[in-house]
Amino acid sequence: MSISTLSLTRFPGSISGLLQVASLLSLLLLLFKAAQFLLRRQWLLKALQQFPSPPSHWFFGHKIPKDQELQYILKWVNEFPSAFPHWLWGSKVRVLIYDPEYMKAILGRSGESEPPLSRFSFSLLRSYLGYGLLLLNGETWFQHRRMLTPAFHYDILKPYVGITADSVRVMLVSLSLSFPFIHSRVSSSKADSIMVDIDSSSYFQAIGDLNYLFFSRARNVFHQNDTIYRLTSDGRLFQHACQLAHEHTDQVIGQRKAQLQNEGELEKIRQKRHLDFLDILLCAKMENGSSLSDEDLRAEVDTFMFEGHDTTASAISWIFYALATHPEHQQKCREEVLLKGWLRACPLSTVSWKVLDDCVLQYFLVLIPRLTVFFPYCFMVTLSIYGLHHNPKVWPNPEVFDPSRFAPGSSRHSHSFLPFSGGSRNCIGKQFAMNELKVAVALTLLRFELLPDPTRVPVPMLLPVMKSKNGIHLRLRKLQ
Ligand code: HEM
Repeated sequence: MSISTLSLTRFPGSISGLLQVASLLSLLLLLFKAAQFLLRRQWLLKALQQFPSPPSHWFFGHKIPKDQELQYILKWVNEFPSAFPHWLWGSKVRVLIYDPEYMKAILGRSGESEPPLSRFSFSLLRSYLGYGLLLLNGETWFQHRRMLTPAFHYDILKPYVGITADSVRVMLVSLSLSFPFIHSRVSSSKADSIMVDIDSSSYFQAIGDLNYLFFSRARNVFHQNDTIYRLTSDGRLFQHACQLAHEHTDQVIGQRKAQLQNEGELEKIRQKRHLDFLDILLCAKMENGSSLSDEDLRAEVDTFMFEGHDTTASAISWIFYALATHPEHQQKCREEVLLKGWLRACPLSTVSWKVLDDCVLQYFLVLIPRLTVFFPYCFMVTLSIYGLHHNPKVWPNPEVFDPSRFAPGSSRHSHSFLPFSGGSRNCIGKQFAMNELKVAVALTLLRFELLPDPTRVPVPMLLPVMKSKNGIHLRLRKLQ
């Protein structure tokens, strides 16, 4: 009896005591966090004092109006010729690098096999891509890269030139029927033939959505937390797009696996001199003799679709636009294609495309927005390929469309042109991409004259793959 009376009278007192202790602890924690924040900020300011930058807000950093990132990068590149510390928020800073010497130093770090992404982008991409080549690191990355490199061998890629040409012809027939909204047509008719024939517009839509959502989430301070993000409309769209993309990939792998159950098919594959991407994945044996798990297979297929689809579709659209606005170069390319006899179905690999090559490379100079991120120190170092290609110190008059920059004998720094990045984590699909682009441009120029639509000038928008806010609209004149 006496015990319970005692505890009842003490209860309110002990609650307020507990509350007092809790508030004191919270206050101490807050003070500790504030001190930590200030010390880190001071340390970063000191560490980065070599790199001048305009004043920034202590919490909101360098505020960039939405959709104006490209203009700001150009401004910084002009004012601060090698690097620029871009304060994001609080003590978060990324050092944007666009000097070829700095690029060389970072990309050339031997044994660099960390994924070229910020931790945040990494965690975002992981939920869609799983652990494919782009996100793997260390020994597993090395094993996968070594296993997949033969799929991009020069000889393996030859037959895909014909497959790409067939897809382009389908696109050209559809373009003949109406004035096109180029990118969507290019994107949906471009079969990603290195893996399988794909005919699914909702899948392409999902990849496009994911591309946009990654970037917009990375820029929104309120969307950083997973739980909060999942509740937003963007978060729900993200889940939906991931689900769609995964279902599609599972279907593709399932189909090919079912084919392989058939002994005849398996024998055909064994007799192939060069295996394609899915053959390699399905027949792969790791060094310990085990096959790739279903999860690994899906991650690789998703990674290659993500890396390989939108990149080339967007490149083809922009090259068309560049040629439409530079009719003299368009005509030179057409003459070269005619001269080299594309019509006689000569294999692309036996022709050295000079003018065409230079025009495609010139496009890459102007429009590759990729950012490659490393964490060599306690902050993010971002290699801005767009900044490098627009750095007037490296490329005088970078905005001028001038394919002669790539003429033989023109001297430039080994790291001044990096559309496919460099070092050990460079793009595995670059040769495939270049073949695809040249076939698409060559065949299109034989059928059409490309003209710009002056009423709808594209507005470039910074996403992992450069897009136009209002699409890319061109007029086509059928050639006789
Ligand atoms: C115009 C076309 C393309 C461009 C501009 C491009 C650009 C790049 C760049 C800059 C990287 C370095 C990583 C990064 O900074 O994010 C990369 C990596 C990669 N690309 Fe491409 N790419 C293109 C087409 C392709 C194609 C067609 C494929 C596959 C068929 C592909 C597959 C990959 C893969 C798997 C990686 C990761 C490589 C690794 O980490 O080992 N890319 N690409």
